[in-house]
Amino acid sequence: TLLPLLIAVAAYLLGSVPTAVLVCHAMGLADPRRLGSGNPGTTNVLRQGNRTAAVLTLLGDVAKGALAISLAQRAGLSPNQTGACAVAVLLGHIFPLLGYMRGGKGVATTFGLCLALSPPVGLLALGTWLLLAAIGKTASLASVGTALVTPLATYLLLPEQQLAISLICLLLVLRHRDNISRLLRGVEPRL
Ligand code: G3P
Repeated sequence: TLLPLLIAVAAYLLGSVPTAVLVCHAMGLADPRRLGSGNPGTTNVLRQGNRTAAVLTLLGDVAKGALAISLAQRAGLSPNQTGACAVAVLLGHIFPLLGYMRGGKGVATTFGLCLALSPPVGLLALGTWLLLAAIGKTASLASVGTALVTPLATYLLLPEQQLAISLICLLLVLRHRDNISRLLRGVEPRL
């Protein structure tokens, strides 16, 4: 049956909806791809000083991840097929082929898909991010740290998605290469 493939394509397309760009456009703010870090994501929308826009971006990106998983689960896909849909929604977010070529870094969407796959894993990831952000006062440091810790939580709490989540977290770290280089040089902006 073609159903798993169709759901994976739907997950990719859902992921490629550019929440930050749409929210900023609707609220009369500048295109987040042209300001600050250039990343269409919550942190960079917040740099425009509009908390409502940042929260809407966060909710939209989290919802994309959660929705893709719920779609896969409702369609009765196997754990492996569901994991593939998780990777697909993230790939859509990071590498959107349709419309906007420049995607985001995938942190909020990963949180959404983790939450839908396993609330304990999602909440652990959220707690890790908030803790690291409170300590380091830097969004990217919290994101990279969380991406390193989450595969471990998955190993313990959601072993059937170990491969998918590890792959996704690897993508997240790679996507933060510029942030990591700025962190190492001590020039990454703080929250
Ligand atoms: O969630 C993205 C965050 O980790 C980094 O965003 O805009 O500081 O590159 P930014």
